[in-house]
Amino acid sequence: MAAYLGLMIGSSADGIDAALIECDSKHCTLLGEHTQALEPSIREKILAFSINQEGSIQMQCTLDAVLGRCLADAAEALLDKIPYPIETVQAVGVHGATCLHQPTDATAPTSIQLGDPNIIAAQLNRPVVSDFRRADIASGGQGAPLTPAFHHFWWHQSHPSASAGKAVVVNIGGMANITAWPDGQLMGFDTGPGNVLMDAWIQSQQGLMYDADGVWAASGQVIPELLSCFQKDSYFSEPWPKSTSRQYFNLGWIQAHLNAQTSHAPEDVQATLCALTAWSVAQAVQACVVGCDQIWICGGGVHNAALMQALSERCPGCAVASTAKAGWSPDAVESSAFAWFAYLRLKGQSARVASVTGAQRHVVLGGIYQPA
Ligand SMILES: Nc1ncnc2c1ncn2[C@@H]1O[C@H](COP(=O)(O)OP(=O)(O)O)[C@@H](O)[C@H]1O
Ligand SMILES: [Mg+2]
Repeated sequence: MAAYLGLMIGSSADGIDAALIECDSKHCTLLGEHTQALEPSIREKILAFSINQEGSIQMQCTLDAVLGRCLADAAEALLDKIPYPIETVQAVGVHGATCLHQPTDATAPTSIQLGDPNIIAAQLNRPVVSDFRRADIASGGQGAPLTPAFHHFWWHQSHPSASAGKAVVVNIGGMANITAWPDGQLMGFDTGPGNVLMDAWIQSQQGLMYDADGVWAASGQVIPELLSCFQKDSYFSEPWPKSTSRQYFNLGWIQAHLNAQTSHAPEDVQATLCALTAWSVAQAVQACVVGCDQIWICGGGVHNAALMQALSERCPGCAVASTAKAGWSPDAVESSAFAWFAYLRLKGQSARVASVTGAQRHVVLGGIYQPA
């Protein structure tokens, strides 16, 4: 087995998740993980840029270079923490900060992540694999979600004797995405908002980054008419393949719906956003797998007790559990996926996600950046 490092800045832009894995064609092990917070000023710039392209080409280039250094620093911090010799790392898979995701734009289908891989390769003196989405988009796919390929691989190695496709894996990051294989064929899509709406609302009302443990949401009452107004958004009934981003689900989205309502207590709005998130995941589970009996959760949403409770209530008969229960830290699943994608890229293999993204064929994902 050989070691690969994965780095990920998700749509929450809360920090850089780093994971070191060892893998071969059949197995994968997590050797260590680390999350490095992003400086608030950098986070604010990423969010402003990714929501409404507030800024300029100068801002894009600055973030690209600054994040390149932050990503390389996070890799070094992880290797110091384990500790692990950098020379033994075969390659680093990097998913930088998404500043634009418009895979279905008629004239300019694309998805851009910032964090210059050249800077990372130079600082770490290791090969870097980056730009994982655009080959899939060039082949007619959404370029997202990609991690279902890794969820599927991980689940089967964690459950070697299980054959039935009654389980799903759900990543609840800024956005949420589901992975299922009901008849053996891999499927997955973004179910809609993960933590993004609850984060945006508590930030606007209390200046906090997130609703720790979902305590604020749990203190409110769900407002049925507001929930049903949220649920009417066309994203939820669109057929897959589909993927979304902060350009669509953000504070402006909440405010546009609230404007059509009488005023509500802010904690009730938070409770309703929590209910919406649980509902959107639950309806995706039910659409993917008839008789689903296990929902494995990764991503930061697993730490939101109110959300986990709401999801369990909406999925009777299903065990809702953290991937930690099956041996993989929920905060390291997505970063591990990009380490594994780097492994596949160096082998010249495709992650085989066309059935998820809607691409016309399976393509090899990512470009390789060699250190000088
Ligand atoms: N203790 C916690 N309580 C509630 N929510 C949490 C907690 N820890 C993390 N989160 C949520 O998880 C989010 C980050 O999840 P993450 O998987 O890193 O998303 P992304 O991939 O979009 O960066 C935070 O923005 C927050 O909403
Ligand atoms: Mg994150």
